[in-house]
Amino acid sequence: MVSYKELGLVNTREMFAKAIKGGYAIPAFNFNNMEQLQAIIKASAETKSPVILQVSKGARNYANQTLLRYMAQGAVEYAKELGWEHPQICLHLDHGDSFELCKSCVDFGFSSVMIDASSLPYEENIALTKKVVDYAHQYDVTVEAELGVLAGVEDEVSSAVSHYTKPEEVVDFATRTGCDSLAISIGTSHGAYKFTPEQCTRDPKTGKLVPPPLAFDVLDAIMEQLPGFPIVLHGSSSVPQEYVDMINQYGGKLPDAVGIPEEQLRKAAKSAVCKINIDSDSRLAFTAAVRKVFAEKPGEFDPRKYCGPARDLMEELYKHKIINVLGSDGKAE
Ligand code: G3H
Ligand code: 13P
Ligand code: ZN
Repeated sequence: MVSYKELGLVNTREMFAKAIKGGYAIPAFNFNNMEQLQAIIKASAETKSPVILQVSKGARNYANQTLLRYMAQGAVEYAKELGWEHPQICLHLDHGDSFELCKSCVDFGFSSVMIDASSLPYEENIALTKKVVDYAHQYDVTVEAELGVLAGVEDEVSSAVSHYTKPEEVVDFATRTGCDSLAISIGTSHGAYKFTPEQCTRDPKTGKLVPPPLAFDVLDAIMEQLPGFPIVLHGSSSVPQEYVDMINQYGGKLPDAVGIPEEQLRKAAKSAVCKINIDSDSRLAFTAAVRKVFAEKPGEFDPRKYCGPARDLMEELYKHKIINVLGSDGKAE
């Protein structure tokens, strides 16, 4: 058993309370490799933003759970080395799909876990979430739960249509499970294709897809039911057109990729939405930078020469999110 407190990590309780009060959101960035982690920590340290490092089941399988945990521990030390005196870094399991996985993360030094039982029937979601909460809270590890189903692919669970969270269920769910935060469905989805072209309109000038707005009425109704309760938005990448264009220009093929417009995320961040999940945008930045080097310097075969530019572009992206979208800069001096 390793306690996250020994690793210098923090859980989400205080971060979320401050974020809701202050009208900003904490960035939750997924990481799978060293370059992503370096970029996240540099961006957070330089902007003094609290940050959530997210590890999915897929990331654990890809990078090895032991290595990831030591990387997160190293991240705290790296942050201090960069001059961030009191780093506010949370290590979080993203989309945990079983009690065993959540328990293993709690036992392994994570400070927060998500149990995503949103694909199960309501009562089963409650039972599994409560079981995780009862275990995690013994170690002061915070728990995110999910109610409602996002469109798209959530690890192995796929859903063709989005089922918005039902506001009339949230009080019962939060009370009976004791969860610390709630991921909701209001129209976001995972990946770089968040909406089909049929769901969008087209900008007549650029020919680009314009996505439909998020269901802020559903968010408002949830906040009315659970005043001040921490709300989480998954699937919140904006799919920056510049990265999509770069990828397509240098031999990639991402036609009609579309994300959540930044102004909608800015609006959400000012509400009880206090954690915003971003993974795809970082994948796009990484891929765009690597493709550019490969296209322009076909003789290059030193990974540092293409992973380095990828890391720089991701750092720029993370800083932009922190400062211009979530507003979390300067909140962890
Ligand atoms: O929500 C899913 C995250 O983007 C993680 O994706 O399961 O491919 O690591 P992954
Ligand atoms: P994106 O695919 O929009 O980046 O969402 C990531 C996410 O929700 C991770 O849990
Ligand atoms: Zn997610």
